[in-house]
Amino acid sequence: MRSEREAAAPAGFIPLCVPEIRGNEWKYVKECLDTNFVSSVGPFVDRFESMLATYVGTRHAVATVNGTAAIHIALLVAGIQPGDEVILPSLTFIAPANAIRYVGAWPVFVDSEPDYWQMSPESIACFIQKQCDWTNGTLRNKATGRRVRAILPVHILGHPADMDPILETARKYNLAVIEDATEALGAKYKGRKVGHIGDIGCFSFNGNKIITTGGGGMLVTDNEQWAARAKYLTTQAKDDPIEFVHGEVGYNYRLTNLQAAMGCAQLELLDDYIEAKRAIASRYSKALTGVPGISEMPIAPWAGSSCWLYTILVDALRYKKDRRELFAHLKSHQVQTRPLWQPLHLSPAHKDAFATDCSCAAALNNSGLSLPCSVGLTAHQQHQVTGLISQKLDPGMIAR
Ligand SMILES: Cc1ncc(COP(=O)(O)O)c(C=O)c1O
Repeated sequence: MRSEREAAAPAGFIPLCVPEIRGNEWKYVKECLDTNFVSSVGPFVDRFESMLATYVGTRHAVATVNGTAAIHIALLVAGIQPGDEVILPSLTFIAPANAIRYVGAWPVFVDSEPDYWQMSPESIACFIQKQCDWTNGTLRNKATGRRVRAILPVHILGHPADMDPILETARKYNLAVIEDATEALGAKYKGRKVGHIGDIGCFSFNGNKIITTGGGGMLVTDNEQWAARAKYLTTQAKDDPIEFVHGEVGYNYRLTNLQAAMGCAQLELLDDYIEAKRAIASRYSKALTGVPGISEMPIAPWAGSSCWLYTILVDALRYKKDRRELFAHLKSHQVQTRPLWQPLHLSPAHKDAFATDCSCAAALNNSGLSLPCSVGLTAHQQHQVTGLISQKLDPGMIAR
């Protein structure tokens, strides 16, 4: 039987980031099938939640159908109301901005910092100091008149955001901190696992993440009440499961036992996968150092990056090709890459949201390109990719 990797990839194709299935997945999923516990009830859901809470170091974890749902519920349990504002980096995948809109709140987009490409603490402070009014314990955006209630840092590409100054600002202005750690499971900020630094953290187990359940998510927190409310909201807000009494409008955001079974098996190997990702990053780093116009995403001295998605910047003048041309060049040799996201302050989907100056995010989008870095990427495949980028390799070799 062909694996997902083989089925998804024609011969010679080097995918961006595909699942690695080499542990107890078959065994645990078979256990679900053998016992008929395939749906949203079953021992693997509890086990996966407890394993993840232990791994991240939080008291509680609540599984969800995907990472976007985890963020949606995190915003609800943190008390974000319709018409509130939540500070979000412009340079991220769109899901957290959408989740903010699901609760009827609004994102406020701030810039990335140029050193490690994460949410800029200075940009947050500058927005608050110059564009907000702080009166009677309420922070209000002067331009929109809306109340600012939370900061939602996103640890992009496996690297943590600089959380200390973000937490300091949050505490000063009484803002909740909801971490989008969907891309950074296992990464550490000054020795602490991401997801356990703010008030509540969210993870994704989408197929391209470092571990996957096909699709899935998790919300983690030390706050017992928030965790209980998250469980309630993700399971249709059921007050009486016999008489079907529902206390409020809830959501069917449960993860299935089948998915959780896969999650348990994947989580058992997470540390090996992080090690593999770091080895891939270090090989890229070595091979691409000295290629004019190519630079990699730096890692902060205080960061334990999971190196989830290895990303370079292409300086078009020095490299003699821009990142779009490099993307096309690699694609023509069956190498899949991915540009950094369109910054959300430029997204048609969020054109009505308030944005600060996000020029660093725009510049990163213009030159950023993520390279293949599946856990199972072979040294030979990686050599092909770096050869094509450094233009040292005969491209004919790729076809062989
Ligand atoms: C930064 C970020 N936030 C949220 C999500 C949403 O996760 P999911 O796809 O599991 O809904 C993703 C990725 O998929 C992401 O990259």
